[in-house]
Amino acid sequence: MEKVIDEALQGSALVLETDTRGPRKLYIESYGCQMNFSDSEIVASILAREGFDTTQELEEADLVLVNTCSIREKAETTVRKRLEKFNAVKKNKPQMKVGVLGCMAERLKSQLLEEEKIVDMVVGPDAYKDLPNLIREIDDGRQAVNVILSKEETYGDIAPVRLNSNGVTAFVSITRGCDNMCTFCVVPFTRGRERSRDPLSIVKEVSELWDNGFKEVTLLGQNVDSYLWYGGGLKKDYEKASEVQKATSVNFSGLLKMVAEAQPRMRIRFSTSNPQDMTLDVIETMASYSNICNYIHLPVQSGSDKILKRMNRLHTRAEYFELIENIRAIIPDCAISQDMIAGFPGESEQDHKDTLSLMEYVKYDFGFMFAYSERPGTMAARKLEDDIPQETKIRRLREIIELQQKHSLLRTRQHVGKTAEVLIEGTSKKSDEHWMGRNSQNTVVVFPKEDYQPGDFVNVHIQDCTSATLIGKAVGYSENN
Ligand code: SAH
Ligand code: F3S
Repeated sequence: MEKVIDEALQGSALVLETDTRGPRKLYIESYGCQMNFSDSEIVASILAREGFDTTQELEEADLVLVNTCSIREKAETTVRKRLEKFNAVKKNKPQMKVGVLGCMAERLKSQLLEEEKIVDMVVGPDAYKDLPNLIREIDDGRQAVNVILSKEETYGDIAPVRLNSNGVTAFVSITRGCDNMCTFCVVPFTRGRERSRDPLSIVKEVSELWDNGFKEVTLLGQNVDSYLWYGGGLKKDYEKASEVQKATSVNFSGLLKMVAEAQPRMRIRFSTSNPQDMTLDVIETMASYSNICNYIHLPVQSGSDKILKRMNRLHTRAEYFELIENIRAIIPDCAISQDMIAGFPGESEQDHKDTLSLMEYVKYDFGFMFAYSERPGTMAARKLEDDIPQETKIRRLREIIELQQKHSLLRTRQHVGKTAEVLIEGTSKKSDEHWMGRNSQNTVVVFPKEDYQPGDFVNVHIQDCTSATLIGKAVGYSENN
């Protein structure tokens, strides 16, 4: 009995302490894809309602959250190093709590609590609405885990708190999860089955962003072309939907039209497109709305049919070329970027050359290139031996990167001498006297500030370039301003 009273007293003392302490401070760090950065904004919104203010200072945090990535081994190693740093801070602040969110949380589950002693809480990407309960658990001195994946959760009803925002560009998530099952990829395991968000909630979020001064949104999904709203539920259950649901369903080109028409001056981008799912309809929609940017991130991963098949990428090299041709025909000045993986199991020298020749054909504007990293639990890890020596992977990766740099320079040079509409995002990293913005093709443009301001649409005459940046001079506001 005495013990119970004692605990109750301690409990109330704790509440009093919380009350007099004012708002608690949340420090949140994000790694990996844009979706993770977007999810952190949802988490900050959920916790704002619980009385947490965000802070940029780790040392003053009561709660430290790290939103993690599992896509390659290195991403996980980086997070584990950060946890060591948090541990050092916690030595001076024992009451500080640490939570791991995102893909590592989902992949490793409660194993993380054993491996990383500093971690109090493990929360998977579909469980963020449970954070208030989980935080109560850890406040009471228990560890807390929720890694349940959902069939429906899209966080469509949560207005994200914009973190580290430039006030001009924002991410808006439209789908969650992925059903594609590329054999190298951990995402279907960590983010679950694919589901789409209600288009009305997407349009509402975009309109609110416009009302708050934002000028550009990037619609996010692992595979945006696969977007399909039929009233909620998993993409794979669409066949079970009623005739009415099917008749009123909205696909990705339908969503693009809705967003483009709802906010005709808002710039619209989207990422990521999967070649096997991208339809002509989407390309035509891009062409018919001037506020949809002329840029497609279209990862291919390899130029070899044999490797594409082993990766379970459901298109051939020839089909990819056909898609590129269609894009070039319908949107002649469309920028295209790639993701490539060097050294996938079984990749021969000829397969690698096929990748280089595919790149030579497309001449991508940008690229994101990686050495293959085997991920536990994936089909590739289970069925294929990681047989390409590390030196070979690195050499092939280097060749891919060098070729990409050549193509990037060629592409940026094509802009020199022309005038482009640029949306100003902020001050250039390299010079306080220059603005940094992007053209429709997503290439960075820098130019002298004069009297222009972030959020302005400006016509910039491009005078010079590097492989990644266009350098120019503003010649006036654009029509869109
Ligand atoms: N559809 C997703 C892809 C996520 S992963 C999107 O929205 O971007 C991003 C990129 O990481 C992939 O396109 C692929 O090039 C790379 N990648 C994924 N798994 C990998 C692995 N096991 N090893 C190396 N690179 C990988
Ligand atoms: Fe991964 Fe392929 Fe989906 S790369 S996220 S399984 S499209």
